[in-house]
Amino acid sequence: MKNNENIVLEVKNLSKLFGKNKVPAFEMMKKGSDKKEVAKKLGVTVAVNDVSFQVERGKIFVLIGLSGSGKSTVVRCLNLLQKPTSGDILFEGKSILSFDKKELLEYRRHKVSMVFQSFGLMSHRNVLENVAYGLEVRGTKKAEREERAREIIQMVGLEGWEEMNISQLSGGMRQRVGIARALANDPDILLMDEPFSALDPLVRQDMQFELLSIQKKLNKTVVFITHDINEAFKLGDMVAIMKDGKIIQMDTPENMAANPVNEYVENFINSADKGQIYSVKHIMQTPSCMMRTKDGANHALKLMRDNSVSSAYVVGDKLELIGILTLDDAMKVRAGEMPMQEAIVRDILTTSEDTLISDLLAVAASAKYPIAVVDEENHLKGIVSKAAVLSSLV
Ligand SMILES: Nc1ncnc2c1ncn2[C@@H]1O[C@H](COP(=O)(O)OP(=O)(O)O)[C@@H](O)[C@H]1O
Ligand SMILES: [Mg+2]
Repeated sequence: MKNNENIVLEVKNLSKLFGKNKVPAFEMMKKGSDKKEVAKKLGVTVAVNDVSFQVERGKIFVLIGLSGSGKSTVVRCLNLLQKPTSGDILFEGKSILSFDKKELLEYRRHKVSMVFQSFGLMSHRNVLENVAYGLEVRGTKKAEREERAREIIQMVGLEGWEEMNISQLSGGMRQRVGIARALANDPDILLMDEPFSALDPLVRQDMQFELLSIQKKLNKTVVFITHDINEAFKLGDMVAIMKDGKIIQMDTPENMAANPVNEYVENFINSADKGQIYSVKHIMQTPSCMMRTKDGANHALKLMRDNSVSSAYVVGDKLELIGILTLDDAMKVRAGEMPMQEAIVRDILTTSEDTLISDLLAVAASAKYPIAVVDEENHLKGIVSKAAVLSSLV
């Protein structure tokens, strides 16, 4: 069990049945009948069957499954667009089922915002008015809501399109408007039901990237639904895979990929692109050759010789990355043909531990030296070679 403070949403034994004979349906389920048997015998659809999960603040929780597996129903229960048949949903420790009208309104206006696949925008309003809509409903003054809307519009990359009519926008741009509208409410939680599924692949990748950067910047909690395993693994801090209304596995993408609980999950994962699962930290190596500027060319050459490599990473006192010294240049420095400061190549490729390998492919292919992995303060954490990148994909 995680620290409660960090848990924004907790779903406990949630079930949602559609149809009249719910009580006998529960009886059948208790005795082990599955969705199909209950539907056949009683005409009851078990959309969600005893689902439990927790969503941590500032994380992206992904629900993935085939069409009809119950994803939308779960997410609709989270803002009570659907009423659970049984189970509970806690927001910051309080049951949303116990909310009175006023609390529920407050919850829907300020705590959760939904982004749909079908955009759900108002076509007779322009971009700015659509984004400002939630604030308008809340009674925010015009000048204030427009200022806020403009900020968000800029953030989702729609600056200059404020006055444009929705009908003039492409699918990708409409979805940006949808996200901006949800963000304008400044909710704690974004609920996103297959928001990118209708977009073509390139636009979709842009939007995934955009969502990740917005989420990092604003530290939003996101519940994201998809039927695409690549999207799930790319976005999810935690991924739950659903089948017939049940969660059959819930884990980080890496753990799930490493230990699928059954063949169903395994098949799902096999359809994924490996580069989308593993990040740089899984393949990076400790730089065998690290030196400081004051170490001098002789020391550098010895290091390279001892480690059979042709370059060394030059770091400062706090391990901050300065650049690379190549074998050729180190020899020139030793021969007095070049000062050390000039010999250090400072313009080198860097990446972070969390970068997905797929996002590194293009640069790795053309990189002259192994790519340096640095943290936010530019401290050298490791290196990734071209060979490591390419071999991780097979
Ligand atoms: N309003 C409804 N009335 C009856 N059955 C529904 C309703 N909504 C969803 N269902 C059924 O519940 C199951 C789960 O649906 P849904 O949550 O939409 O799945 P997903 O989003 O994973 O495609 C499906 O079998 C679907 O037909
Ligand atoms: Mg759905």
